[in-house]
Amino acid sequence: MKKVLITGASGFIGSFLVEEAIHEGYDVYAGIRESSDLKYLTDPEIKFIYIDFSNKESLKNQLVEIGKFDFIIHCAGVTKTCNKKLFDIVNYQYTKNLIEALLETSMVPEKFIFVSSLAAFGPGQKSAEPIKLTDTPKPVSYYGKSKLKTEQYIKSLKDFPYLIFRPTGVYGPKEKDYYVMYKSTKQGIETYINTKKQLISFIYVKDLSQLIIGALNSKITNKAYFISDLKEYTAQEFNWLIKKKLNKKTISLVFPGSLVRILAFLNEKISCLLSNKIPTLNTEKFKEISQKNWLCDSSDLVKDFNFKPEYNLSKGLDETLQWYKKEKLL
Ligand SMILES: NC(=O)c1ccc[n+]([C@@H]2O[C@H](COP(=O)([O-])OP(=O)(O)OC[C@H]3O[C@@H](n4cnc5c(N)ncnc54)[C@H](OP(=O)(O)O)[C@@H]3O)[C@@H](O)[C@H]2O)c1
Repeated sequence: MKKVLITGASGFIGSFLVEEAIHEGYDVYAGIRESSDLKYLTDPEIKFIYIDFSNKESLKNQLVEIGKFDFIIHCAGVTKTCNKKLFDIVNYQYTKNLIEALLETSMVPEKFIFVSSLAAFGPGQKSAEPIKLTDTPKPVSYYGKSKLKTEQYIKSLKDFPYLIFRPTGVYGPKEKDYYVMYKSTKQGIETYINTKKQLISFIYVKDLSQLIIGALNSKITNKAYFISDLKEYTAQEFNWLIKKKLNKKTISLVFPGSLVRILAFLNEKISCLLSNKIPTLNTEKFKEISQKNWLCDSSDLVKDFNFKPEYNLSKGLDETLQWYKKEKLL
């Protein structure tokens, strides 16, 4: 049985990766923290390891104690935070610590998959064209910049077998940010920034997990990919699908970006000050969601992995909204 370490296992995507890896017969080690919520990691086959990425020496000791992993999927990461320095510390420095610990203990796995983000490239630079692998990355947020810096570090290594996956917006059960939109539609309001015609792409979390776990066994290494369901959507189509599936009539509000920026600023300040919790609408997120074009060219996935997503947005939303209803969250 091949041993795979999945970091960020307690998170939205990580928990699906764990499930898929177990389903595919791997010996799964879930990398978690003392503070991690384990409610979605209930399979008795899961082996848990508490990892402190800030301490390279303890990482090295742990690696030596457990023995070499055949594969590592590094999914742990910060996507929103009150402390902006954490983007660089967690997403870049901690990844570097993990990789250095692997190199220094000669524990480099057969393949190291880094879960990056489309945000590392930033939005499409031409009005309606998808971002291409050959484009020059221009991330607009600290989050995107930290992912790009990590990618550049990984690519600079010699003889290190990596794959970099850059998912676009990932949706599905258990997810917390798109959920805000589902709730608002349920309350009869659909919202936009600047335009209803914003171009967006999606990947359903189960397709993403199947792709990543499937890629462990492929011979391909040292390449990066954008991950989407190979389709293009507009913000209006997204909202239309949600309201149709929730059977709701809505009023649609198109807010000017300048107003949303102020709201994001106030929202973040108040929430961070009062509860140290970063809200979904925050200043860094605003930089991303206010961009006009988040299409990406994922065609290399078809060529290299024969990727055939099972879910388009409509099918994925059916399953997602069912889950929220079942959990009495909608
Ligand atoms: N969701 C998306 O649309 C999307 C799109 C593109 C890329 N990604 C990438 O996918 C990965 C997972 O995202 P997600 O949406 O599943 O986010 P999530 O639900 O917030 O999960 C993040 C995971 O990272 C762990 N983590 C955070 N800070 C950590 C630290 N200091 N030390 C160790 N572990 C830490 C969290 O552990 P705790 O549970 O203990 O907090 C959690 O398991 C991230 O790298 C993200 O950048 C996500």
